[in-house]
Amino acid sequence: MASNSVTAQPRLSPRGQSPSDSSVLDKRSIAASFSRAAQSYDSLAAIQRQVGHQLMSQASRHLQGRVMDLGSGTGYFSSELIDQSQIDEVLSVDLAEGMLAYARQQRSHANIRWICADAEALPLADNSLDGVFSNFSIQWCEDLPRLFDEIRRVLKPRGMLAFSTLGPDTLKELRQSWAKVDDFVHVNRFQPRQQLQQALANGYQPRQQQEQLIELEYQRLNQLTEELKGIGAHNVNQGRIAGLAGRKRIQAFRNAYEDFRKSNGMLPATYQIYYGVYQKR
Ligand SMILES: C[S@@+](CC[C@H](N)C(=O)[O-])C[C@H]1O[C@@H](n2cnc3c(N)ncnc32)[C@H](O)[C@@H]1O
Repeated sequence: MASNSVTAQPRLSPRGQSPSDSSVLDKRSIAASFSRAAQSYDSLAAIQRQVGHQLMSQASRHLQGRVMDLGSGTGYFSSELIDQSQIDEVLSVDLAEGMLAYARQQRSHANIRWICADAEALPLADNSLDGVFSNFSIQWCEDLPRLFDEIRRVLKPRGMLAFSTLGPDTLKELRQSWAKVDDFVHVNRFQPRQQLQQALANGYQPRQQQEQLIELEYQRLNQLTEELKGIGAHNVNQGRIAGLAGRKRIQAFRNAYEDFRKSNGMLPATYQIYYGVYQKR
């Protein structure tokens, strides 16, 4: 619904620079990649759902009133949030216009507003939210201090932030397999827990913190790479190989990944999940 939508162009980069100036992550590529994945995302996002429900179970009692779903994707959790009786309004914020368009269509609700914006430059007033929920999204933000300062700015005093994000062991099998082939960055780098905690230290009081390792299994490597493509989680680090990796290198990568094949015949893919519930100081 038009009245529920904010269509302002996202301010795509921190500190007024273009993403190519200084960011390791290219936000235009991130937005384009997730926009392209909007139609296929819901059918492939099993681990995102599992982690999001786990986060909901930890966070929902802390969330009330006006809540932002940050990096809301297809809006599945925006919809789950608005179904909670203590939540009055959800601001569903995402960088990818394609994701928002799909979400608006599939999950339209009078009390959900759809906003295209960058998490690191939110078009929201100071002290305007009671809570923030963010599932599987903030790993796409490179400047964690800036991100958490921005969230803190829009939270009311003692407002709550609940998030899940990815740690550096995520997709380690992919990363290690490519490392045997060349020096390009083929897999997104995720920041360690200490970096998260450091970025949160000044502005927030920790309420709950948890870490979980999840190992997914695939018969064929293509199933994993197609799944990553289908949810929009392409490699967007600068330093990634331009164009198509040569056939020989792809074969070498495949062979290297085979070394991880387990005794049950399956290929593993590790996800390291950090959960956090924090209160604005
Ligand atoms: C893996 S999806 C998760 C979607 C949803 N939260 C879920 O649990 O299904 C990550 C989402 O974060 C969004 N995103 C990435 N970087 C962002 C940023 N800087 N600001 C806002 N959204 C961002 C992407 O466009 C994508 O829709």
